[in-house]
Amino acid sequence: MDYSRKIAERLWNQQDKGELESHREETFMDDIVQKSHIEKELLANLEGVKTVFDGGAGCGRFSILLAKRGCQVTHFDISQPMIDKARELAEKEGVLEQITFVKGALEDLSAYQDRSFDLVMSFDSPISYTYPNQEKVISELVRIAKKKICISVTSRLGSLPYLSNPIQKNQFILDENCEDSFVRWCVENKKNSMEQFQFHPENLDKLMKEGLMGGEWEIEEYERGGTPWCITYSFMPDELKTILEKCGVSSIRLAGPGAYARTLPRKILVKIMNNPTWRREFLEFSYKYDSNPYVCGMGKDNLLAYGEIV
Ligand SMILES: C[S@@+](CC[C@H](N)C(=O)[O-])C[C@H]1O[C@@H](n2cnc3c(N)ncnc32)[C@H](O)[C@@H]1O
Repeated sequence: MDYSRKIAERLWNQQDKGELESHREETFMDDIVQKSHIEKELLANLEGVKTVFDGGAGCGRFSILLAKRGCQVTHFDISQPMIDKARELAEKEGVLEQITFVKGALEDLSAYQDRSFDLVMSFDSPISYTYPNQEKVISELVRIAKKKICISVTSRLGSLPYLSNPIQKNQFILDENCEDSFVRWCVENKKNSMEQFQFHPENLDKLMKEGLMGGEWEIEEYERGGTPWCITYSFMPDELKTILEKCGVSSIRLAGPGAYARTLPRKILVKIMNNPTWRREFLEFSYKYDSNPYVCGMGKDNLLAYGEIV
């Protein structure tokens, strides 16, 4: 088994992962925008969709949404804590019957026949965590799709600004006083992170050229018994489009959820989010702006692709 899969397995199988991930939209505004964008994309393309495969489905943000819309969903994930959390949330929403939970790795989809699901989806980077198998995984996801595919992977252009911005997440904190452990970390380390900042253009050039975040250090840390972040492959927009085209996907559209939100200062974003009407209108406008192909590389850190199977 390669290191990407072993590292992802250890990281995502930490006991508190499901609980922590299920609160993301309450704490960070870029996550709110991204979730809203994906929901709008899915709901706009549900015609003719009865069966769905969600690869790396986490705690069920989108599998539960589609089960509530009457779809039969296979919720597939490498992590038992994420599946357990998703099951708990699905029960609360009354859609347990419509979801089949499967523990497995995207690197092996051999259990599924060609064209098994009307819609195949995978959001917020599980594909990027399968390096060096990301292309093969995409082609396998396309293979098991009958009508539509919708995926979001780590965006190279969207990730590059983070390398020069150690306080990237502070910009999107909704409530600086909330108890969330990651929010507390961001707030308490802000001053220190700014003071210790050093500009490393060589790291920018390397990521721009190779697309890979993580590698040797993560492998060594894993071997020491630690739990490093996943080795993550980031895609360029044209690269992702070409891979999908090669697999026979047509009518491909790319988007960069979060691109518009990136242009606003935090205090304005907080004002908008705390006003229910503005929040709804802002999320609607962001969906349109972020769907423009000219901004697709500049979303939060995800690149979204929708396409149809010929
Ligand atoms: C950031 S979460 C996204 C979850 C969900 N798609 C969403 O958008 O809410 C990434 C998920 O991918 C899963 N994952 C990571 N690597 C995987 C792999 N190789 N195969 C299957 N799932 C994987 C993790 O367990 C985690 O639940």
